[in-house]
Amino acid sequence: MERPYVVCHMLASLDGKIDGDFMTVPESAPVLQEFSKLRDFYACSATLYGTVTMQGGYSEGLVGTLPHRGTVYPKEDFVAVPDASNYVVSVDPQGILGWKSNWIEKKNRPKAHVIEALTGQVSDDYVAYLRERNISYLFAGEELLDCTLLLNKLKKLFGIDRLMVSGGGRMNWSLLQEGLMDELSLLIAPVADGSRTSVSIFEKEDFLPPKSPVSFRIKSVEQIENSDGLWLRYEVKR
Ligand SMILES: NC(=O)c1ccc[n+]([C@@H]2O[C@H](COP(=O)([O-])OP(=O)(O)OC[C@H]3O[C@@H](n4cnc5c(N)ncnc54)[C@H](OP(=O)(O)O)[C@@H]3O)[C@@H](O)[C@H]2O)c1
Repeated sequence: MERPYVVCHMLASLDGKIDGDFMTVPESAPVLQEFSKLRDFYACSATLYGTVTMQGGYSEGLVGTLPHRGTVYPKEDFVAVPDASNYVVSVDPQGILGWKSNWIEKKNRPKAHVIEALTGQVSDDYVAYLRERNISYLFAGEELLDCTLLLNKLKKLFGIDRLMVSGGGRMNWSLLQEGLMDELSLLIAPVADGSRTSVSIFEKEDFLPPKSPVSFRIKSVEQIENSDGLWLRYEVKR
């Protein structure tokens, strides 16, 4: 199956968490900075985020109740911008995220065109809502997200050869479990916060079948300059 090369790029605490108080202490600052810089190292033309991550930092929150649209579009893939130099792939199987624009602009990052990854569960009104904003979308699965089909369409419809996956934990694990991840780039901040509620790098969704642990092979270990943090590069063992 044709698909992009997939790198999962994450920042975690010493206790394996990807969110929470550990991010706010000075010892984490140089690691956070390096985490941003290293995005360029992988030269990916798209970054994929799960629904929770999108809602928290990239979309305009939730769309809420949509007024009824007159137009019904077929539930078929829609490519608004086929040749963007950068894309954000927004996993949104139910069609719940709100948007002002079809581009995301973040400080110090190239602007990115939005691709919504949907399932057959989305409403006709949500599809029309995306069309009105000229946001690209693709359908991957009827009820649950079919990650294999999703990656295949990213390659076929948008020519994405290298994809960065950057959380959250549930989306990361879904791709790993389905054998769709090639590399893990993990930055470790030299901090622990003991949280029992923050998510970790990998979190299995209840709807996924059981899966035995996945192993990794080390590619390199580097200490991050002016810090006690580490950059670990692993490839996924097949
Ligand atoms: N430190 C870092 O490098 C870093 C980077 C990014 C994010 N984060 C943090 O990660 C946290 C969010 O992580 P998360 O694990 O809770 O959420 P997530 O992976 O961002 O999103 C999970 C949601 O995506 C939807 N989904 C649908 N199909 C899925 C599938 N096959 N596999 C996985 N998800 C699917 C589900 O939404 P529905 O249940 O609505 O269907 C699910 O609840 C945030 O706190 C964020 O700040 C940290």
